[in-house]
Amino acid sequence: MAAEDIKKGLAGVVVDYTAVSKVNPDTNSLLYRGYPVQELAARCSFEEVAYLLWNGELPDEGQLAEFTARERAGRALDPVVKQVIDALPATSHPMDVCRTAASVMGARHPLAEDSSREANMAKAVDLFAAMPAVVAYDQRRRHGQDLVEPREDLGYSANFLWMTFGEEQVPEVVEAFNVSMILYAEHSFNASTFTARVITSTLSDLHSAVTGAIGALKGPLHGGANEAVMHTFDEIGIRQEESLDEAAARAKAWMEDALANKKKVMGFGHRVYKHGDSRVPTMKAALDKMIAHYGRPELLGLYNGLETAMDEAKAIKPNLDYPAGPTYHLMGFDTPTFTPLFVASRITGWTAHIMEQLDSNSLIRPLSEYNGAEERHLP
Ligand code: ACO
Repeated sequence: MAAEDIKKGLAGVVVDYTAVSKVNPDTNSLLYRGYPVQELAARCSFEEVAYLLWNGELPDEGQLAEFTARERAGRALDPVVKQVIDALPATSHPMDVCRTAASVMGARHPLAEDSSREANMAKAVDLFAAMPAVVAYDQRRRHGQDLVEPREDLGYSANFLWMTFGEEQVPEVVEAFNVSMILYAEHSFNASTFTARVITSTLSDLHSAVTGAIGALKGPLHGGANEAVMHTFDEIGIRQEESLDEAAARAKAWMEDALANKKKVMGFGHRVYKHGDSRVPTMKAALDKMIAHYGRPELLGLYNGLETAMDEAKAIKPNLDYPAGPTYHLMGFDTPTFTPLFVASRITGWTAHIMEQLDSNSLIRPLSEYNGAEERHLP
């Protein structure tokens, strides 16, 4: 086989149909079930978007009330999941904690071996409802703090922040968090979603597919990039007393040096978007609001400096993880918690794809071209 016929990384290969979302890199657009993600982020709650991804249509008033009641009732951390988390070292990466929790939830699910659409929908909603408790509790235990019980009077995003910080957050912060959850929810056949679809294609169960997807998301070339962005900011040094321009100049110099040393800088570039990630303007607007809210212009300086230097040197644009990282930092999340926030959101997209895969399943099993030793025999 000719080398050019081998599609390394499956780049440019279309492997199936999907009706969940449409990414169009030419027009820089992303549609969830036909709706532009920017419209959804501006006008919907994350709960409505989750419902849309799973059901194909936005909920009417009655459907939303029923759905949110179901989500609110499923928010408490299962005591057995808590025991398992407590048995893990406080130094465990939060993505490992998430992955373990998803696996335990699967093993304990009353419908564990039922792969009907109804059972899978129930499992998806259960994961969606319960994952915030896992993420929030894990951040708290690393600070020696106790579990905060969920509040049924709060929406998904407000409750997530409540369970993490033990304090109600102001509407601007809740709104920015809601926007990030919507933007992270779905992105067609990205690496973690494809992982979930591969696992599902063997007729394995939904929790196995989600557990595998969490593993795929952890890597810095994928979801781990939002955490890595903050490490870059930390490496450059966050100096709160600095002006926007001073911070920008230091960040620019750092980027020039990094690129001169052929470093890959996380939070930039995308396999599909080559002229900019459709989600970035909306997330950047949320970051701008958080920078104004918390009064931290030096972070905008670092952001601008890196972005400008990368653009001038390589014309590579930021991806969603770039504005999301500092936004979560400002809200008070620990840096290693950033990718688990992505998990909590992407559970919706993953499970929509798992159900879609099962609707017209075909085992995913590509071929490879052998380039190892010629046939040989034992002496
Ligand atoms: N920093 C520096 N150079 C980069 C970057 C980057 N972030 N991204 C791409 N490049 C350069 C590569 O070095 C390469 O240059 P070369 O041709 O001179 O060798 C060229 O651009 C093509 O890069 P590839 O990695 O081959 O492009 P690919 O499409 O495979 O990669 C990827 C996409 C993996 C996302 C890449 O851009 C990257 O590693 N980015 C950093 C990780 C990241 O931010 N991931 C988040 C993805 S979005 C998300 O999960 C929400």
